[in-house]
Amino acid sequence: MMLVTGASGTVGRPLVELLVAAGVKVRAVARNPAGLPAVAEVVDEPVLEGVTGLFANPRAIGDGVDDLIGQAKAHGVRRVVALSAANVDDDPDRQPSRFRGDRNREVERAVTGSGLDWVALRPTTFAANAFGLWAEQIRRGDAVYGSYAEATWSPIHELDLAEVAVRALLDDDLLGTRPVLTGPESLTQREMVRTVGDAIGRELSYVEMTAETARVALVARGFPDGFATGLLAMQARSVGVPALVTNEVHRVLGRPALTFARWAADNAYVFGRAA
Ligand SMILES: NC(=O)c1ccc[n+]([C@@H]2O[C@H](COP(=O)([O-])OP(=O)(O)OC[C@H]3O[C@@H](n4cnc5c(N)ncnc54)[C@H](OP(=O)(O)O)[C@@H]3O)[C@@H](O)[C@H]2O)c1
Repeated sequence: MMLVTGASGTVGRPLVELLVAAGVKVRAVARNPAGLPAVAEVVDEPVLEGVTGLFANPRAIGDGVDDLIGQAKAHGVRRVVALSAANVDDDPDRQPSRFRGDRNREVERAVTGSGLDWVALRPTTFAANAFGLWAEQIRRGDAVYGSYAEATWSPIHELDLAEVAVRALLDDDLLGTRPVLTGPESLTQREMVRTVGDAIGRELSYVEMTAETARVALVARGFPDGFATGLLAMQARSVGVPALVTNEVHRVLGRPALTFARWAADNAYVFGRAA
């Protein structure tokens, strides 16, 4: 039995689906279980009886990782896979998600120091961040207002990440490793928006606003100021610098990582109908 924390999240949902499809018993931890496969057992907090493998999502665990790992060991869990991040070793000020409460470093350290079999997955930015950044605007019109048009990302499709997580949970090849997982190409934010436009059959234009306007807009949407400031600083640093691209997804899955164009096509319905 695999216990998946954050099961309703970006990676958790496809991970549960892939495990269930592979015939693996899954206990999914989610406060909002809508859309999870009916054959998965859904709980609203981790229940470790009968669990052999654990997927640890820091967003869902919060400050509770030591307790979770302690319980996992007490219940005979053999393997734990951490969802960490490519920037986990950076100065905390350069990890904007810490301002949202994500304790990626603490979770990775607890997992790798647990004495259990472990894998720490270190992805770069999720392609799915495009929903929060741009989807609402794109549904309304063809102009997309955002910061730093030339900031670069190497966005990873959540299916790739979920497939690698399946390998980490079920196979032994990745044990004791911290693969840095990226999409297959570096793209600017302007190029990403254009790619979404191609997927929905509309010509979208990226209209750059000042970093200060972008910061105020993020805060107005409920993001902590530290997160907004850190994210914008990260974008500013990336202008003119290609985003890190690794071959790890290809190496693990035996096929190239999925492109952002593929992600946009898979999710075109979220951004609105083709004009
Ligand atoms: N987004 C990126 O680009 C990126 C890149 C690298 C690493 N990461 C890391 O990956 C992790 C997941 O990030 P994500 O953005 O993809 O989140 P997510 O997996 O979509 O969120 C996971 C799930 O956690 C649950 N959750 C959220 N807040 C919670 C809270 N306060 N208490 C308990 N449960 C909560 C929610 O499920 P329910 O509401 O159903 O319980 C949510 O579906 C984070 O640690 C993040 O730093 C993200």
